[in-house]
Amino acid sequence: TKKAVLGPLVGAVDQGTSSTRFLVFNSKTAELLSHHQVEIKQEFPREGWVEQDPKEILQSVYECIEKTCEKLGQLNIDISNIKAIGVSNQRETTVVWDKLTGEPLYNAVVWLDLRTQSTVENLSKRIPGNNNFVKSKTGLPLSTYFSAVKLRWLLDNVRKVQKAVEEDRALFGTIDSWLIWSLTGGANGGVHCTDVTNASRTMLFNIHSLEWDKELCEFFEIPMKVLPNVRSSSEIYGLMKISHSLKAGALEGVPISGCLGDQSAALVGQMCFQDGQAKNTYGTGCFLLCNTGRKCVFSEHGLLTTVAYKLGRDKPVYYALEGSVAIAGAVIRWLRDNLGIIQTSEEIEKLAKEVGTSYGCYFVPAFSGLYAPYWEPSARGIICGLTQFTNKCHIAFAALEAVCFQTREILDAMNRDCGIPLSHLQVDGGMTNNKILMQLQADILYIPVVKPSMPETTALGAAMAAGAAEGVGVWSLEPEDLSAVTMERFEPQINAEESEIRYSTWKKAVMKSMGWVT
Ligand code: G3P
Repeated sequence: TKKAVLGPLVGAVDQGTSSTRFLVFNSKTAELLSHHQVEIKQEFPREGWVEQDPKEILQSVYECIEKTCEKLGQLNIDISNIKAIGVSNQRETTVVWDKLTGEPLYNAVVWLDLRTQSTVENLSKRIPGNNNFVKSKTGLPLSTYFSAVKLRWLLDNVRKVQKAVEEDRALFGTIDSWLIWSLTGGANGGVHCTDVTNASRTMLFNIHSLEWDKELCEFFEIPMKVLPNVRSSSEIYGLMKISHSLKAGALEGVPISGCLGDQSAALVGQMCFQDGQAKNTYGTGCFLLCNTGRKCVFSEHGLLTTVAYKLGRDKPVYYALEGSVAIAGAVIRWLRDNLGIIQTSEEIEKLAKEVGTSYGCYFVPAFSGLYAPYWEPSARGIICGLTQFTNKCHIAFAALEAVCFQTREILDAMNRDCGIPLSHLQVDGGMTNNKILMQLQADILYIPVVKPSMPETTALGAAMAAGAAEGVGVWSLEPEDLSAVTMERFEPQINAEESEIRYSTWKKAVMKSMGWVT
């Protein structure tokens, strides 16, 4: 049969904490043509430790590319129409590998991992000058969340890493670097780079000068020779070279020309290009980013300052304020894998719907301490307000409510920092398919929640950056390009007083979750 003739296509890898996806979009209409998704294992070797296998991550990317290409073939779409590939990824997760063999020297230490708590405490005692040293350069609080302390731990504790650094064989990277290096040839000429958004999450990057910061590297005792080159979020980094994988080999020679941390990618995918535009993405965690334009705004209410994007080598950098919540989708996975009260993540909606209330039960999923706005590493998860009447449906409902209450906390912080309250919340991510969650979110925020019909905005943002890159030029970043995107709107349905009462009880529960670890 004859292959369908289409305009240029752009592929995007979306490597998240819970799963990997590869998606292919039509660059003229932003329509999603085909995709494939693979779940990623998480290992918890000790209490508070979270690791992943970098090779499994890479393999999952190959598998997703292969399967997506197969599906395109079934649709009679010629994969030679794919003109560029973008990469978006879980941020901060730290990998060190051997540049001669391509072998990772330890598992990836995931952003949620808490093993560096004592490293953070020791470092905070010897911050030079004033306490603002790290924050003023990076926009970040000193926390286990960011890569510098994870890399410090690997250098202190893993002999293979120490040896490879001594022998000049070690490369460090967040997941974007690991993937781009591997996909562009690995030990045979792979390109060792990252983009400004991912670099801004390492705690080694100066967000004003857009360079690795020598003083920070000295403070964390990180050898600068292991760091990747920092590039913009939209330019050709290298060409795909994956011939050993049959179908994926078909993308051989296609430029990788977009790279953004997943939260920045979603901001781009939601077309939040104006100062004051914001989006909230529900993935493993939940991240609300508000574009602050060309200026770095520093929060008074526990938000991070981060690089939003820089869409081209000669294009200006844009910044964002970010409210980060560690546990959102992860609480559903926990109910599935650790408690077994659901078999699939989708079942949570059915359980919650059966009761339509948590019946006074509150669930604070502070599995990795609390991130924004508290930054409280001593917090641990609690489920409270239980009676003999409480059943698994109420707990399922409370888990969904927890995601919404946490979003309310970061939205409140954002409104205080920005001065102008958001009139509605743009949302995206896998969990937004859950209608109960979306309605609860509108009720708890007490503003409308607006979701695009195509929730894969993270991948879309990476595809846009890749397609718009100089030398590719198949995607124009004008708003009318997204005219195909339709929106679904959820309006608050309870009264404001009820919304406030529920929120204040949640805050009481949060207070009880703190101080569990001393
Ligand atoms: O900062 C961590 C974040 O990038 C992870 O995103 O989508 O895996 O929850 P996600």
